[in-house]
Amino acid sequence: MERQLLDLSDVKLMVDTFYDKVQKDDLLGPIFNGRIQDNWPQHLEKMYAFWQTTLLGEHTYSGRPFPPHATLPVGPAHFNRWINLFTQTIDELFSGEKAEEAKWRAAKIAQMFELKVQHFQSS
Ligand code: HEM
Repeated sequence: MERQLLDLSDVKLMVDTFYDKVQKDDLLGPIFNGRIQDNWPQHLEKMYAFWQTTLLGEHTYSGRPFPPHATLPVGPAHFNRWINLFTQTIDELFSGEKAEEAKWRAAKIAQMFELKVQHFQSS
């Protein structure tokens, strides 16, 4: 049976699995690798903290998530791919309430980022 998404080790598994897919993805891979280059360990640490804060209420992330995205060359197709890979990751690994919450929160944030990126590109 699939596991529940309950603690930091689950969050790490989720983040590692998701960014593994992202790095191999034809559309998203080049964008992430182009910006992050050899700083993947730092990026992953940041994302563990982001999701630990968002899903577990353990406040280890204190950055501002949106600004680094403002200047990325991304549009609706990229956000659709992002959310598809995220949903796929969760469904492969987890079941239960937190797993559903993770997909819901990710979709909401992606929606907001997409609108904000659009706004930046048109200003
Ligand atoms: C950081 C790409 C969507 C959360 C980053 C970075 C890249 C990136 C390249 C590293 C920036 C840097 O260090 O300079 C993308 C792309 C997306 C996307 C291409 C979709 C097309 C999302 C979504 C979320 C998210 C939907 C949240 C659910 C974050 C967070 C950071 C980050 C928290 C770290 C921000 C910080 O520096 O504190 N993203 N991202 N991203 N991303 Fe995304």
